[in-house]
Amino acid sequence: MPSSELICFNSACRARFPITEVIYNCPACGGLLEATHDFTGLDPELLKLTWRGRRLNNSQLTQSGVWRYRELIPFLGDEAEQHVVTLREGNTPLLDAPIAARYAGMDKVVFKHQGFNPTGSFKDNGMTCGASQARRLGMKRVACVSTGNTSASMAAYAAAGGLQPIIFIPHGNISYGKLAQALEYGARTLQVDANFDQILKLVRVLAEKLGIYLLNSINPFRIEGQKTIIIEMLDQRDWSVPDWIVVPGGNLGNVSAFGKALMELRSLGFIHKTPRLAVIQAAGSAPFVEFMKAPRGTSFPTVKHPETLATAIKIGDPVSWPKAWQVVEWSSGLVEKVSEQEIADAKVQIGLCGIGCEPASAATLAGIRKLIGDGRIKASDDVVAILTGNALKDPDYIFKYHTGQLKDPHGAAIAATFGNAPTVVPNDPDRIAALLGG
Ligand code: F0G
Repeated sequence: MPSSELICFNSACRARFPITEVIYNCPACGGLLEATHDFTGLDPELLKLTWRGRRLNNSQLTQSGVWRYRELIPFLGDEAEQHVVTLREGNTPLLDAPIAARYAGMDKVVFKHQGFNPTGSFKDNGMTCGASQARRLGMKRVACVSTGNTSASMAAYAAAGGLQPIIFIPHGNISYGKLAQALEYGARTLQVDANFDQILKLVRVLAEKLGIYLLNSINPFRIEGQKTIIIEMLDQRDWSVPDWIVVPGGNLGNVSAFGKALMELRSLGFIHKTPRLAVIQAAGSAPFVEFMKAPRGTSFPTVKHPETLATAIKIGDPVSWPKAWQVVEWSSGLVEKVSEQEIADAKVQIGLCGIGCEPASAATLAGIRKLIGDGRIKASDDVVAILTGNALKDPDYIFKYHTGQLKDPHGAAIAATFGNAPTVVPNDPDRIAALLGG
């Protein structure tokens, strides 16, 4: 049997396809696909030691915090060295955040900050795998629709790997920081007058028509790479499993990847406990929360016009919801939504720890605070929250918040609860000294 295959996620189908087939959905039933691997013979304890040892190794593949764990993402087989495109992604820190913990009512909270990645978001963990698979398949052009981070990441990895990136973004609805990255990395950038969900449908048609490789999170190889966020986090914690992992939800690729990683680690004997996954969405863009709270059998309640200033997660029809659903159920997890004000205030508290993040990432802390408030998370629980993007991704939002100019999508003012506006001063040492109390 080949060691990796694609398999239909739909439990009623489970059709299998060669790992080199260029498909994004099951040709038999239309279901989502995932990569499946033959892990026979893996020795968890030996691998934990091998991975630890690799941190001292300077080879390209091993310096990557994704490919360091290649035994659990073995889809390239013997061709890894030949095809891998890496920018030394992963290797992101676990950061203790006492001020944020106090704000949320926790004894302690730890952030795994994916904003330390080469293009500033968790997308790089997945993109190194997606771009490498594109090269292995001999594809020349790659495409994605994006709320900004996927496009920045895809542009960088395509450029580094000699592929041509084509990017589709909702016109006027992504932050300049992200758009600027795509331009700088040389991507052909198309701004479409439609929202993310509508453009995803468009791009799927175009990918098929023009033979362009699609690198949205529907691509199962991106999910493989994002598994390593969890593997690396557990490695950094010496394999001590937290009680909770809290993550923002948009298209729901990340939570799907986390669940796949945890299920594999558990079944292979790397861990012996399952952490609970909490998925947090922005209130104006929370179809998954509505779905999980609705009676079973309800069809998925797509949000036609999603709204949030956390533009990264402004998605009303998330493609990976069936996988995310399985993950939340399997981990006895939960879902919650938070308001624009809650996101904005939580974001400042993360900033006050010297950490910072983009708005979508702050949904995690806002969510934890809410879950502590009604007792679903306990103050003493061991919580790891994933900060998905760097603070510099969206400086416009930060400036507007601190100067009291931030407005929600309906034009209502967001209070600068923890505002820190800059002060204009004259070029006069005495007056400045007086101002500073000297
Ligand atoms: N946080 C950030 C900073 C993101 O950019 C995204 C998704 C998410 C959270 C949500 O992750 O989709 O896996 O549930 N951004 C995508 C993009 C959609 O196009 O950059 P998800």
